[in-house]
Amino acid sequence: MRDVAVIGLGMTKFGELWDKSFRQLIAEAGSKAILDAGIEGKEIDAMYVGVMSSGRFVGQEHVGALVADASGFSRLHIPATRVEGACASGGLAVRQGYLSIASGMNDIVVIGGIEKMYDVGGTEATETLVTAADQEWEAFFGATFPGLYAMIATRHMHEYGTTREQLAQVAVKNHANGALNPHAQYKREIDIETVLNATSVAYPLGLLDCSPVSDGAASIVLCAAEKAKKYTDKLIKITGSGQASDTLALHARRDICTLDSTVYASKMAYKQANVTPKDIDTAEVHDCFTIAEICAIEDLGFVEKGEGGKAIDNKITTLDGSLPVNTSGGLKSKGHPVGATGVAQIVEIGLQLREEADKRQVKDAKIGLAHNIGGSGATCTVHILEVM
Ligand code: COA
Repeated sequence: MRDVAVIGLGMTKFGELWDKSFRQLIAEAGSKAILDAGIEGKEIDAMYVGVMSSGRFVGQEHVGALVADASGFSRLHIPATRVEGACASGGLAVRQGYLSIASGMNDIVVIGGIEKMYDVGGTEATETLVTAADQEWEAFFGATFPGLYAMIATRHMHEYGTTREQLAQVAVKNHANGALNPHAQYKREIDIETVLNATSVAYPLGLLDCSPVSDGAASIVLCAAEKAKKYTDKLIKITGSGQASDTLALHARRDICTLDSTVYASKMAYKQANVTPKDIDTAEVHDCFTIAEICAIEDLGFVEKGEGGKAIDNKITTLDGSLPVNTSGGLKSKGHPVGATGVAQIVEIGLQLREEADKRQVKDAKIGLAHNIGGSGATCTVHILEVM
């Protein structure tokens, strides 16, 4: 296996982007990453794009070729492949690009992630998202993702004494971080009372415990590490890449409070990178709902199972805590255009390791982790990035 470096980062603003088409969004993110890397189109060996449900959201399938076309590369005939794994589509695209370079097949690969969700109404967006849940056991009976994560939350509260206030503090923290991120959908701070008094969506989760519906795209450029010196002075490598799966339906899990796909994917990534959870300086985790961040910090091994709520109380995961989590604002505040999320997480970790995260910069960040979940945990990718 060859070492792989991240040499280009780019993303659009996330939000309700009526003035930009699907094609314009992916072209904008991709051209930012390509310019950042300083590569030319003819140097690109392959493209991978993560998208969950463009057919339902904007009526467009066949997105691999579309991305190459929209980027102005149709005459170069670059192999371009779409990757789908629900909200983990972006993380899967990163991993496919990574594997294609590590294997020796490609030298330079552009990864994209995109979703444009506001073109449909709220009900249709919810129905589209729930196609990633188990149709026969969950969606058929009216379950939605807020409902499924609400079940995880109530069980977590029952098992471990996690409180409604601890859930709310996750949203408060992530909005504080998002307020410092120019690309975030919600650049505003909120207080705990606002979260607790927000309209209930699925008990115990209120409106402000949920990630929003979002439009947006993100892109990165990967390069064989041995060739990356030509493009950058600051070498950032992907030192660990893990992926795991689990049952689609929550009821079939060993324990609904533990996302085993996170446990297995992170073990794979830690082992490959030869690091432990204690070595991680900053992490972007999949906080599609506030409870999801609490489960993630437990399942990634940052704290013991059941201690996630207390870690929030003890401010371990704030920007000035011992392990800053979701410095970008996370899915909660930065936004969650589902196919783009896993790629945007790598953009944030890359900015942190390059010390380009401006007001949300984590001091001395050398090792970062990105954790991307599909559905309620049936798919997970974990990537570890290090400054070399
Ligand atoms: N966080 C903060 N503000 C939000 C928000 C969120 N998650 N969702 C909506 N808002 C704001 C909107 O900006 C709007 O504000 P405005 O009136 O000032 O413009 C207001 O709340 C109402 O927005 P609206 O779009 O009507 O909300 P909604 O009731 O249709 O949808 C949710 C709210 C929470 C149901 C929706 O965002 C949702 O389904 N989120 C979960 C998405 C999901 O499941 N993703 C996959 C995860 S696995």
